[in-house]
Amino acid sequence: MLVVDCDPQANATAGLGINPESVQKNMYDVFMSRVDGFPQVTMTGIIRQTASGVDCAPSNLDLVGAEPYLYGIASRAEVLRDALLPVKDKYDLILIDTPPSMGQFVINGLFAADRIIVTLDSGSFALNGIGPLFTIFSDMKQDLGKDVRADMAILSRWGEADDKTGPLPAAGTQEKGDFISRLLAVFSPRPAPTEEEIAKGKEHEQERERLAEMLGATEKKFPLVYAVPYSPEIYEAQQKGMPISHVSPDCTAGKEYKKIADEVMKWTA
Ligand SMILES: Nc1ncnc2c1ncn2[C@@H]1O[C@H](COP(=O)(O)OP(=O)(O)OP(=O)(O)O)[C@@H](O)[C@H]1O
Ligand SMILES: [Mg+2]
Repeated sequence: MLVVDCDPQANATAGLGINPESVQKNMYDVFMSRVDGFPQVTMTGIIRQTASGVDCAPSNLDLVGAEPYLYGIASRAEVLRDALLPVKDKYDLILIDTPPSMGQFVINGLFAADRIIVTLDSGSFALNGIGPLFTIFSDMKQDLGKDVRADMAILSRWGEADDKTGPLPAAGTQEKGDFISRLLAVFSPRPAPTEEEIAKGKEHEQERERLAEMLGATEKKFPLVYAVPYSPEIYEAQQKGMPISHVSPDCTAGKEYKKIADEVMKWTA
């Protein structure tokens, strides 16, 4: 598997254990190869092996500098697709990470890709970004003749806001507790909840409703939707520079990412 980091923030690079600041040749050089007067650097010239066994075409902040040059090239949307051609058959899967805001790197990623995964933050305004994204999809069909459709949405940090109001009960799994605590609940009447507890309970309920609404709206727009629960282990994996599959596969987020990975592997069959 190959991860192509097309985001100058280089979180994919760092997440695979490569320090972006230490990177010499990177995606900047690959994109700049299409600009007159710049040296030819191929994907093979920048791809690095990482500890987890995943190959990485790294990026770093240099990449920011390539974007203005791309506007001067007629076939600017095709640079990444063309660059990947010679290495394409070496990998069962190539994952292209793009920046969060629209620009040439997103367009290059969309143009090079066979399948598209849209990641959304479960914060309240995340769905607002979907409109412009779908506009870009139809523009690409019009201007470049490429059919661009989102195959999957991933809602990340699912239920994180609820950390403040206590854990989110998972759908359909009301906690019954053990025998002793059930007995205690029957024989020792609970004290009436305080005003603070009532307010918290209300907040909790509102957040659950918001999440349910968001999930419903997302499911209307994407053929496949996964909600990845908030897990502190994700941060830990990032710090270690290893995928969650190698650090904590059994945490709640890890299990959901495994399901996603299984689904994605079906695309490669
Ligand atoms: N399920 C999760 N549980 C805990 N933390 C998460 C989870 N998903 C993402 N995060 C954390 O949230 C932050 C943003 O995650 P995201 O996947 O959007 O990363 P990003 O690609 O760096 O952000 P972006 O490209 O949107 O700027 C990261 O620091 C990541 O560690
Ligand atoms: Mg990102």
